[in-house]
Amino acid sequence: KGMIKKGIILAGGLGTRMSPITKAVNKQLLPIYDKPLIFYPLSVLMLAGIRDILIIVNEGQLKQFKKILPESKNLGIKINFAQQQYPGGLPEAFIIGEKFIGKNNVALILGDNFFYSQSLTAKLIDCTKLQSGAKVFLHSVSNPSQYGVVKINKKNKVLKIVEKPKKHLSDLAITGLYFFDNKVVEYSKKLKISKRKEMEIIDVLSKYNKKNKLSAELIGRGAAWLDAGTIEDFYNASSFVSALENRQGLKIACLEEIAYSENFISKEQFSKLIYDYPKNDYRDYLETLLSN
Ligand code: TTP
Repeated sequence: KGMIKKGIILAGGLGTRMSPITKAVNKQLLPIYDKPLIFYPLSVLMLAGIRDILIIVNEGQLKQFKKILPESKNLGIKINFAQQQYPGGLPEAFIIGEKFIGKNNVALILGDNFFYSQSLTAKLIDCTKLQSGAKVFLHSVSNPSQYGVVKINKKNKVLKIVEKPKKHLSDLAITGLYFFDNKVVEYSKKLKISKRKEMEIIDVLSKYNKKNKLSAELIGRGAAWLDAGTIEDFYNASSFVSALENRQGLKIACLEEIAYSENFISKEQFSKLIYDYPKNDYRDYLETLLSN
């Protein structure tokens, strides 16, 4: 479909804000209503037509992730895994993923971010057409001083980018979904460690911006951006998904459904997938899709 065919999900992290819940289980394995958090960012990449995926997890947690996700070949995609020793910052994704990325352009989504909106798929596919430079996904927030924020012009070119601005710049926050050309690997390798002892994605984005190579995609006001970092976020995101799913009778981020509707797998392949689950609501839902 587009130019970007590879995507990384950064699904490590310490989850300190959610301790003690995250003491034994990684945040991305915890439920948002009826499915694990990791399903949601994965569904975003799949909807973008990205089928070659690297999931980066904390050292020692690989087995749990492999167990909770459907077999990638059954979804008509390829999932590679890598481990991060310590959460040293988002740009580490491009260093750990250097081999996976090769000479390609790449998308990055944080393991605790997802989006829900009409025409999201079209917007995502548009972003994958990026040939050079970088693109950020923006969403309006009420508390911009807590985020990386940008000011853009009418053509969605980024004019200014500031981390946690003290003085109001705009309400447009940078979400956890990014698209980069291949230079991101080189830029990440040259980064200096910040005051909080991490590599900062904002430094990578600023580098692109200095070269006039940073653009933005806006998800409009009819869209929801969910960023599950705290207990309250999990609770709210679960309520949101529950309300929508029960009202519409349709699931958000059902990986099997997306693989089928995007034609990654045939009807016959889909029918086999159903029996990966015990008789329950999730399986009932897949069975309904098959008979429609
Ligand atoms: P954070 O919100 O910075 O970290 P966290 O989710 O572990 O939470 P806390 O601050 O409560 O400790 O990270 C955002 C997402 O990116 C999250 O899904 C974890 C992931 N991440 C990594 O996988 N590796 C990293 O080096 C960093 C910084 C984040």
